[in-house]
Amino acid sequence: MEDKFGRDIYYLRLSVTDLCNLRCVYCMPEQGVVKRQHCDILSVEEIEEIVRATVQCGIRKVRVTGGEPLVRRGIVEICRRIAAIPEVEELCMTTNGTLLTKFAAPLKEAGVSRLNISLDTLDKDKYAMITRGGKLKDTLDGIAAAVKAGFKNTKINAVLIGGVNDTEIRDLLELTRKESIHIRFIELMPIGECAGWSHERFIGNSRVLETAPELQEVGSSGVAKLYKLPGGTGTVGLISPISSHFCPTCNRIRVTADGKLKPCLHSAEEVNLRGLHGQELLDAIRGAVTGKPQRHHLDEDDRSLSRRNMNAIGG
Ligand code: GTP
Ligand code: 5AD
Ligand code: SF4
Repeated sequence: MEDKFGRDIYYLRLSVTDLCNLRCVYCMPEQGVVKRQHCDILSVEEIEEIVRATVQCGIRKVRVTGGEPLVRRGIVEICRRIAAIPEVEELCMTTNGTLLTKFAAPLKEAGVSRLNISLDTLDKDKYAMITRGGKLKDTLDGIAAAVKAGFKNTKINAVLIGGVNDTEIRDLLELTRKESIHIRFIELMPIGECAGWSHERFIGNSRVLETAPELQEVGSSGVAKLYKLPGGTGTVGLISPISSHFCPTCNRIRVTADGKLKPCLHSAEEVNLRGLHGQELLDAIRGAVTGKPQRHHLDEDDRSLSRRNMNAIGG
C-alpha cells in the first residue's frame, strides 16, 4: 500500500490495551489510567477482522503493543489468530518484559516471531523511580525467559532521559559486548506526559557516540542506525526521531485499542474503524493511508500534535 509520498506502508502497530502494570514517568499519568469498559475496546474478533483487512491492503508485519500488551486478557489468543493469517510474515511484540516469565513460552508457541523489551536502566532504584514502583528483577527475569523460550534477536529499548539515566549509557551498551543482545537508545519524544518537561531532559543520541566514540557504524534496521563495539557481539541501535527524523522512510500505521487508525504517531488525525466491515473497512484504511502526513514537526514544535498519551498509542 503506497501513500501519496511514495512510501510503502506494510507495518501495522496494533495497540491491544492502554493499561499497563507500570507507570513510566514519561508515558503514564501518575494516577494511572481508568480501566475502560470491556465494550469500549476491540474484541478479539474485531481485532482479527481489522488485521485481516489491513493485510488485504498490503500489511505484512504486525507489532502488538499496549500500554502493556501482556495485561490484555486473551493476549495469547489474539497473537495466535494474527499469526495464523498467512500474509503476516512477521508478528512482533513490544513489552516491558515483566510478565514474560509467564508468557514467553505461550507466545512463542502461538507464533510470535520477535520481542522488543523496554528497559531504561540497570539500577534497581532508578528502575523503581522511572516505572513508579516496578522491580528491575521482573524485567531481567523476563529477558531470560524470552531467551529460554527460544526467542532470537530480542531488542532492548532504552529511552534516554537527561539527568536520570544518561550516566548509564556505557553500562547499557556494554551488554552487547559478550552476548548477542541488541540494545537501542531512543530519543525521548515530547508527547503526552513528558511534553512539558524541561529541555535538559531531552538529550540527543549524539551523547551515545560521545560516550563511546569507538562505536563502529554497521548499517541500519528499521528506524535504528546500527553500531557495534569493536569485537562486540550484539548491536547498538540509535533511534533518533528528534535529531534525525526518519519520516521519509516511514512504513507504518497504528491502530488503537478502541479501534482508531492513526496514520502518524504525532498527528492528531484518527480514523474510526470500529463497526466497519467489508469494503467500507478497506476504504477507511486506504483513505487513512492516503492522508498520511509527510512528517512530524517535533524539531520545530515543542510537542506532538497527537491527542493521546503514549500508553494509548503503543509507541
Ligand atoms: P523493529 O521491528 O524491531 O524494528 O521494532 P520498532 O523499532 O519498529 O518498534 P519498537 O516498538 O521497539 O519501537 C521503538 C521506538 O521507536 C519506540 O520508542 C517508538 O515510540 C519509536 N517509534 C516507533 N515507530 C515510530 C514512528 O513511526 N515515529 C517515531 N517518531 N517514533 C517511532
Ligand atoms: N519518547 C520515546 N519513547 C517512548 N516510549 C514511551 N514513551 C516515549 C516517549 N515519550 C517507548 C517505551 C517503549 C516504546 C514502545 O516506546 O519506552 O520502549
Ligand atoms: Fe508501561 Fe511501556 Fe508506558 Fe512504561 S513505557 S508505562 S512500560 S506502556
